[in-house]
Amino acid sequence: MLVRNCWYVAAWSHEVAEQLFSRTLLGDPVCFFRNSLGEVVALADRCAHRGAPLSKGRIEGDSVRCMYHGLKFDSTGRCHEIPGQDRIPPQACVRSYPVIERDNWIWIWMGDAENADPARIPPTWSLGSAEWAYKPGYYRYAAPHMLICDNLLDFSHLGYVHPTTLGGTENIAQKRPTVTRGDGVVRVERWLTNEVPAPFHTKVASFSGLVDRWHFYDFHVPGVLVMYSGVQATGTGAPEGHIKDALEFRSCQAVTPESESSSHYFYAVPRNFSIEDQHITDTIFQDIVDAFEEDRVMIEAQARNLEQAGKWTMAAIVADAALGQFRWLMSQALQREAATSVTAAS
Ligand code: FES
Ligand SMILES: [Fe+2]
Repeated sequence: MLVRNCWYVAAWSHEVAEQLFSRTLLGDPVCFFRNSLGEVVALADRCAHRGAPLSKGRIEGDSVRCMYHGLKFDSTGRCHEIPGQDRIPPQACVRSYPVIERDNWIWIWMGDAENADPARIPPTWSLGSAEWAYKPGYYRYAAPHMLICDNLLDFSHLGYVHPTTLGGTENIAQKRPTVTRGDGVVRVERWLTNEVPAPFHTKVASFSGLVDRWHFYDFHVPGVLVMYSGVQATGTGAPEGHIKDALEFRSCQAVTPESESSSHYFYAVPRNFSIEDQHITDTIFQDIVDAFEEDRVMIEAQARNLEQAGKWTMAAIVADAALGQFRWLMSQALQREAATSVTAAS
């Protein structure tokens, strides 16, 4: 079961440009385009006539024309032209989805449109700030959305999955984070003091000795990570709040189900140092891509294993604390949906 009454990241802004753009979200094919004002429109990518993809059609002003038999739909999904006929039957419409474009992400609401409150979109300001530099990333995962969320909720895997990229030390798993649950969000805070810098850090800065590292993040339902992380020389006061000559990052990552068994993963690691330096932007991006590929290999293998396992019970450990809290929030969201009428895909 997938939660529908929440905001999901559907695309990076640059993905919806001049052309029609299609992406399957929560099992529904969705067609995106920009109207004459440049605003993003999202319609069910299935023509009301005989089900051809609208994304194989043509943008005409604020409308899209299906290029099978020529029906034309406006940005609300209403058909307003049928070649060779004057009367438009009321069922000749496609579903339109609420969308909000903010900070270079396009958010979509796949549930009941009347509940689509923009105030519920998590704060991802670093993606839209001129003070922070990054390169946008995207992966398609052959794994359920929840397994990717699990991975992001427990960084104890850094030392094992990412020893030569993001990790650097298996001590990460020894240092327990603080985990708290709020309204629709799990907060995870972890300090790693007196540690070696990650290989990823040493590529963009020279630390002569040990460092203090921190990962503070909010993980929002249904799978959006907003993180403040950093690294600073040990003994210079970072744990006491004196941030000076640190490498600081404001990462945003979002996991959106494509289906019950596959997912979209949007990510970026904005930084506020050397923001004009394209070489550093490219180096950080490549390191992140290399590291996230390590995650992908492990999680897709895990997904295949779990699919084969059928009825099988996982053995919980202390490091699963944040996963447990997040799963509780997701189960609450599903129960709320079950108690109200949830919009089915049209
Ligand atoms: S399927 Fe779209 S016009 Fe016929
Ligand atoms: Fe990872």
